[in-house]
Amino acid sequence: MELIKLDIRKSGVEITAEAKAEAARANELLYSGKGAGNDFLGWVNLPSSISADEMAAIKAEAEHLRAKADVVVCIGIGGSYLGARAVLEAMSNSFEFLRKEHKNPTVVFAGQNISEDYTYELMDALKEHSIAAIVISKSGTTTEPAIAFRIIKEEIERRYGKAEARERIVAITDKARGALKTLADNEGYPTFVIPDNVGGRFSVLTPVGMLPLAVGGVDIEALIAGAVEMEKATAADKSIDENPSAQYAIVRNALYREGRKIELLGSYEPRLQYINEWWKQLYGESEGKEGKGIFPASVTLTADLHSMGQYIQEGERTLFETIISVAAPAFKVVIESDKDNLDGLNYLAGKRISEVNKMAELGVQLAHVDGNVPNIRVEIPRIDERSIGALLYFFEKACGISGYMLGVNPFNQPGVEAYKKNMFALLDKPGYEEASKEIKKRL
Ligand code: PA5
Repeated sequence: MELIKLDIRKSGVEITAEAKAEAARANELLYSGKGAGNDFLGWVNLPSSISADEMAAIKAEAEHLRAKADVVVCIGIGGSYLGARAVLEAMSNSFEFLRKEHKNPTVVFAGQNISEDYTYELMDALKEHSIAAIVISKSGTTTEPAIAFRIIKEEIERRYGKAEARERIVAITDKARGALKTLADNEGYPTFVIPDNVGGRFSVLTPVGMLPLAVGGVDIEALIAGAVEMEKATAADKSIDENPSAQYAIVRNALYREGRKIELLGSYEPRLQYINEWWKQLYGESEGKEGKGIFPASVTLTADLHSMGQYIQEGERTLFETIISVAAPAFKVVIESDKDNLDGLNYLAGKRISEVNKMAELGVQLAHVDGNVPNIRVEIPRIDERSIGALLYFFEKACGISGYMLGVNPFNQPGVEAYKKNMFALLDKPGYEEASKEIKKRL
């Protein structure tokens, strides 16, 4: 069964021979390495190049942490956070927190904000649990995770001692550079490497995503198998007619060129909400530069029809939407008949909830298309590891192609530095003395 079915019939875009040629050239650049940002193309062949030894090492470390702790704190931000969170949420029971027995350790996240209250509540909640930590930073110098790690590290050392901390802390970072690498080496923590040629937002299928996911009970082999299938389906030697990533890139660029500046990613499955967040970073950081780029936004449906629905239907006509459609649910819930029928819902008796959800999806699609919101549909067979692995790679490949079609370097993020400089100056970080004086005058 095809893991990704792309349906562009309601996008209003006809894929021209010229657009196919443009997308094919962009896809070829990802393989030839002749495009901008060519030192960050390691993700292109990543799924098929993960060795059995690498997989075994990740799984062994995950088993070790699972045996040690009932809560594993995963520390990171941006590309060192969103992929793991997205897949973990997609693969987790939404009500796991209500269960008395937990099959897997709970993976919680830290270092993705600098909120004192979040940190306090996390540390307070951890008191009742045995804990371990995975700290992830490619640069090894990012402030948010560094602060969180300092606090978690101290807690682990205080509780278990320095020697045992080495059994409970794992670092994922650059092979040679950065403060985290130095710290991990000095402390003797086990480490996993983020390859030099894989940028943060493309790193979910490296140990950055795979270790926390394996700890959380996700079948990472199936995840990679799905990504490998999509790697093959979108290779440069495949015709554009058979390459869903290239087609998606073509359609979104055609819409952008017609003035569609905002893409809404949505789905009718709340477990996919963090896939939206991961996708927003992937596309926002890759394309939003040089005054260009589609603004990536997201909705979770049908919930957001009751908040954003009005705007989508009738607001400014600069939107298009991409819907991740799940063909089959994992479970079955049937709507029963009610003898009084006071709610008037007996016309639905005997139907599965998923049938109602599907009709909502189809009805919304037509309403939005009638309201001049072009629609792209990305269908996956179900929410499982293989489909999600395929979906991740589908979007990554489309992002690379799309960024080149847009004419930007999709693999840098120069704009991310601006806030950091201001924050360091305001915090009187050594080396920022002059900037500090200047910025304080502006407050
Ligand atoms: O995609 C990116 O490069 C960024 O979002 C980074 O992942 C993020 O800033 C975190 O960086 P680091 O992993 O170096 O701590």
